[in-house]
Amino acid sequence: MTDVTSTWTEPSNTPLALLLLGKATDPASERGVDCPGDLPAPSDPDLVARATAAKAALGDRVFVLGHHYQRDEVIQFADVTGDSFKLAQQAAARPDAEFIVFCGVHFMAESADILTTPSQRVILPDLAAGCSMADMAVLGQVETAWEHFQDLGITDQIVPVTYMNSSADIKGFVGRNDGVVCTSSNAKRALDWSFEQGSKVFFLPDQHLGRNTAVLEMGFELDDCVLYDPHKPQGGLTDEQLINARMILWRGHCSVHGRFTIDSVREVRERVPGVNVLVHPECRHDVVRAADYVGSTEYIIKALDAAPSGSAWAVGTELNLVRRLALAHPDKQIMFLDRAVCYCSTMNRIDLPHLVWTLEELVAGRVPNVITVDEKTAREARVALDRMLALP
Ligand code: 13P
Ligand code: SF4
Repeated sequence: MTDVTSTWTEPSNTPLALLLLGKATDPASERGVDCPGDLPAPSDPDLVARATAAKAALGDRVFVLGHHYQRDEVIQFADVTGDSFKLAQQAAARPDAEFIVFCGVHFMAESADILTTPSQRVILPDLAAGCSMADMAVLGQVETAWEHFQDLGITDQIVPVTYMNSSADIKGFVGRNDGVVCTSSNAKRALDWSFEQGSKVFFLPDQHLGRNTAVLEMGFELDDCVLYDPHKPQGGLTDEQLINARMILWRGHCSVHGRFTIDSVREVRERVPGVNVLVHPECRHDVVRAADYVGSTEYIIKALDAAPSGSAWAVGTELNLVRRLALAHPDKQIMFLDRAVCYCSTMNRIDLPHLVWTLEELVAGRVPNVITVDEKTAREARVALDRMLALP
């Protein structure tokens, strides 16, 4: 592989710095550690044959999970594709597979490790495949916020809820404080459950999913929600604001979905009369409000499968998925909501060279890139994940 690091200077190691093609280290971030190994060249014409042969040689010992945002070249080798909820369920339902190769991002592989048996190993083909949203909530910051809520005497009323897109230690924090994990396909059910346990929710780390669910699906007012900014003293909020709020939203967002704007919606409606606008709930509140439909990736797929032939759809989610859906439904006009928005750079790190390398290492008896959550964190996080899996 070309050593791109020799021609480009890596930005300083902030949690949000992007790592180059699986090389380098960002210990402060959710994704964590180096990605070792000599990858096959992306130009190798035998990559598909090599992945096919390695997967066949491993047989039932390996199970490959693929998130909908993965590249086609990787998705073709997935035994199951899904949104983050379905993939968590699938990981938990495969106790016989020795190796779970997770084609997705770090927090998903951590959740799979927590939900699988101790003898199974979960592998992330590129350890630099993190999630900028997950990196926006760091345990120390969250504990500082919680201590402040304790000083105000409001923690008894608060149920912490974390989006699946968070590190295992944030899920552990939520588990030990009687909260629950949610995904974009069950956020309303998780919030319904939470408001049966308490009168306030502390929602991490995606402000948009929290706000969109509370306001658009549960009838809350925007004023019921406050935004806790971990970079400001006391979150940038007064005691009164925290005491009166029903939803305390962490100031985090998805760097892909956060780029869709209300202008994208207006522009496509003008350009394509009768277009249906379908967006993911990680989009900003004004965008979701202006859309016709909102839902998780699994919802988006089902909506487009069921759409009538000839109908037009502008879809606000990651590009790999939208492109695949457009190709799968040539009788429908399926387009990207905003032509300027790009792929999720971290999802895209899992490419065919990384998958080939991973599978061939396994065939050779070496187990690369194992994702392991320590026992205490896993135990506490599992409580919050199991609560999610048990939601009605
Ligand atoms: P879902 O898989 O829950 O739809 O979430 C999308 C996402 O951003 C995953 O990182
Ligand atoms: Fe994270 Fe957004 Fe990428 Fe999902 S699409 S992995 S939330 S940055």
